[in-house]
Amino acid sequence: MAILTYIIILAATLSVVNAVPGLWFDRFFMVVFENTNYTDAIANPYFKSLVEKNNSVLMSNYDGVSHPSQPNYIATIYGDIAGIADDEFYDIDGINLVDLLEAKGVSWKAGNCFTGMKTEDAAYVREHNPFISMKNINTNATRCANIVNADQFEADLASNSLPQFSYYVPDRFNDAHNTNLTYAMSWFQPWFDEKLQNVNFTNTLSLIVFDESDHDEGDTGPNHIYASLIGSSVTSGAHEDTTPYTHYSLVKTIEENWGLGTLGRNDVDAIQATTQQD
Ligand SMILES: *[C@@H]1O[C@H](CO)[C@@H](O)[C@H](O)[C@H]1NC(C)=O
Ligand SMILES: *[C@@H]1O[C@H](CO)[C@@H](O)[C@H](O)[C@H]1NC(C)=O
Ligand SMILES: *[C@@H]1O[C@H](CO)[C@@H](O)[C@H](O)[C@H]1NC(C)=O
Ligand SMILES: *[C@@H]1O[C@H](CO)[C@@H](O)[C@H](O)[C@H]1NC(C)=O
Ligand SMILES: *[C@@H]1O[C@H](CO)[C@@H](O)[C@H](O)[C@H]1NC(C)=O
Repeated sequence: MAILTYIIILAATLSVVNAVPGLWFDRFFMVVFENTNYTDAIANPYFKSLVEKNNSVLMSNYDGVSHPSQPNYIATIYGDIAGIADDEFYDIDGINLVDLLEAKGVSWKAGNCFTGMKTEDAAYVREHNPFISMKNINTNATRCANIVNADQFEADLASNSLPQFSYYVPDRFNDAHNTNLTYAMSWFQPWFDEKLQNVNFTNTLSLIVFDESDHDEGDTGPNHIYASLIGSSVTSGAHEDTTPYTHYSLVKTIEENWGLGTLGRNDVDAIQATTQQD
């Protein structure tokens, strides 16, 4: 019996292509929605149902770090807002999460690659893609090639070759930015339910999160947002975690999971998330 279990676990681990084993999870997937406060998000039937799943954690005390959108996205991979307080174009110097992931051989991809100008009704905007604002990514063709579109995500899933770190940015209609949560869920619910059923998506820890609660530059009010973790590494049953987390906790959690070291910014003292109940 023990041998059988071992074989199953080994096979499951190997199913993550070229995996660098993590402390809690071997594969991480995150999707970022837009501009909704915690109260509104948890009132959404699908977001509520996700945290009723047996392998889920509701992080009920998670805050965005700034306003408007862009500094929040930057924070998720840079461990700091890099002095950014608007949605304009920046090329940011210094190391970011990708440097740490690559140094340990952890594969990554992010979407979507948009380097052009924004227009008010554009589906894709640079301010929602922090990777493209990192100088050592946007000046490096090899790295830039890892910024892919949603079709590539589906192709990788179908060939069981998802990277270990995936950062998924829906377009500005599906992420609720230009629309609302009802519209966003008409895309996300069937899409994500299918992923959760897909054998090639098992052993993945998913983070469903928002960038910020409100969206005006200079907003100083509460920035309480919905964040949930779903996946087989949550083994202690559905639970709520009231620890005060921020986007910096997300960086810290990735760092701790794969033993990446730190960026030396706000990630250092951030509280890492845990998938286990105290
Ligand atoms: C959340 O946002 C809604 C608008 O969508 C607003 O009416 C409500 O007061 C906000 N709640 C909190 C707690 O900020
Ligand atoms: C570009 O990125 C690749 C992959 O991370 C790396 O091996 C290479 O050294 C980088 N090139 C430069 C010029 O930094
Ligand atoms: C999972 O990946 C395998 C390739 O290893 C592929 O043949 C299969 O169709 C994929 N399954 C799904 C549901 O995408
Ligand atoms: C939600 O957004 C969709 C698409 O923009 C729109 O058709 C619908 O009326 C909106 N619903 C509400 C309640 O605002
Ligand atoms: C939920 O998970 C816990 C811990 O793994 C387990 O004890 C419990 O039986 C599970 N409940 C259901 C309904 O699957």
